[in-house]
Amino acid sequence: MKLNVCVMRRHAPNPHSCGNGGGLEIASKLEQTLAERGLSVPVERIACFGLCLKGPNVRLLPQGRFWHEVKPGDAEEIVAALPPCDS
Ligand code: FES
Repeated sequence: MKLNVCVMRRHAPNPHSCGNGGGLEIASKLEQTLAERGLSVPVERIACFGLCLKGPNVRLLPQGRFWHEVKPGDAEEIVAALPPCDS
């Protein structure tokens, strides 16, 4: 299991992107929250799911669940919704 966080940054004329909406902060907050709970779930920073207008976006793999319009303050909710770890 792992989390993918889009951190893509775009600039004008179409600046709407997850990175501009806080993607890097979201990734860091997820890592912090996972560590606090003792969970070893990798957080990968990726560049674009193709869902830019719904971002910032986070995806859980391999399950495929998406979270859209994520804010750094949503990290607790996302981590709480993860399925149980095998380890
Ligand atoms: S910029 Fe994040 S999905 Fe495209």
